[in-house]
Amino acid sequence: MSAELWNSAAAVLETNWSRDHMVPSRRLYPHQWSWDAAFIAIGLAYVNPTRAWRDLRSLFDAQWPDGRVPHIVFDPRTAEGAYFPGPAFWDVPAYAGRPARGSTGLTQPPLHAIAAWEIYRRAVSHGAVCAREAGEQLAWLYPRLVAQQDYLSRRRDAGGDGLASIVHPWESGLDNSPSWDAALAAVPADMGLLRRFHRRDLEVADAAHRPTDLDYARYLGLVLDYRDGGYADTGLAHRHAFVVECPAFNSIRAAAELALAHIAGVVGADAGTHRRRAREITEAISRRLYDEKTATFRARDVRTRELSAARCINGLLPLMLPDLPADRAAAVLAEAASPRFGLPRDTGLPVPSFDRTAPGFDPVRYWRGPIWINMNWLLRRGMLVHGYRDEAEDLRLAMLRLVHGSGHYEYFHPVTGEGIGAPAFSWTAALTLDLLADRSVPAYARAA
Ligand code: GLC
Repeated sequence: MSAELWNSAAAVLETNWSRDHMVPSRRLYPHQWSWDAAFIAIGLAYVNPTRAWRDLRSLFDAQWPDGRVPHIVFDPRTAEGAYFPGPAFWDVPAYAGRPARGSTGLTQPPLHAIAAWEIYRRAVSHGAVCAREAGEQLAWLYPRLVAQQDYLSRRRDAGGDGLASIVHPWESGLDNSPSWDAALAAVPADMGLLRRFHRRDLEVADAAHRPTDLDYARYLGLVLDYRDGGYADTGLAHRHAFVVECPAFNSIRAAAELALAHIAGVVGADAGTHRRRAREITEAISRRLYDEKTATFRARDVRTRELSAARCINGLLPLMLPDLPADRAAAVLAEAASPRFGLPRDTGLPVPSFDRTAPGFDPVRYWRGPIWINMNWLLRRGMLVHGYRDEAEDLRLAMLRLVHGSGHYEYFHPVTGEGIGAPAFSWTAALTLDLLADRSVPAYARAA
């Protein structure tokens, strides 16, 4: 299956390249998305490292002066009507010499330092010339990656205990995950917004797969509130209706500090600060997001101080952190192996996005049940960090089998494995390349 799968993945990345960036999917997502760019760069580096760096640089060209990396960078050649909510809705002020229509004002998980380090490592194995060129790219990115992390640490610590909050479910990347249900229930839903603005997602995707109108009205209201406050982050916990600490977002943020420690070593900066920050974030995740009673990590609503009751895949990602105590790592693995998620050993499939046994488990609504390759890729990375080699290898093979059998879909049915959402989806293709190339892979553990 390898050659056929490799070629089909490479073909998806060829089709979805758009002059200076990759689109996640031509039909559904015709602009550049932030964390997609990071996942994509990791795989694209195998077939076209120049484009992998280019994609990351296009994204960071749109970084705001306050350090935030926008969750979508709009392609000025794409018509306003091709995506909603588009540039006019976000109404972002001109910044850093960019035209006012450049981006959204939300952010997404900061996976980019990890991507940059992965591309660099691969380049080094191709000799001195490649290593020098990659070193130059790292030197360009490093201060921008640091500014991205500083934005999250300084402006988004709404809870005041070392974790970055998201101010919109879209910032998590797990848009309609049950993790946000409790916090979202308190957000006013102005259904009139759906009459004023037209949901384009329902034209290009099946309504049964997408968020409900009620949730969508809340999503739009949250954007309008944040926008009308000038996308400012002061006093968030008191004046914004949705302020949540996500275990996956913060685990990625801590893992990014570890990648930055490696990058700092190459560009001649101080690695110690990044290692210290990674430890501090890891401790904060353990302190604030772990529930002793159920031995699970879950999202916390900063406004009510309550942990979400929903057990979702974001709770498995603290496994990515090497400083996570061994008993906590074992608890995460036990949760992953339980019937709620079910490792490939029992199901033959990668893990779903939400607890299979929960009443709200929905095999087709996108973050409320389906299998996503990016989350499983991160989980596998965590398994390798903590020495769960057999589980990691099973997961790698299950992901490859699934994509080989069903195609490079956006997400997959957690019972039948059928591909759903957008076909020819960039991060599925990119991570497939990485999984194919990365055979026995104690690589992450080695690099740590
Ligand atoms: C969906 C996903 C999000 C992703 C985006 C573009 O909104 O929930 O994680 O970044 O699509 O692929």
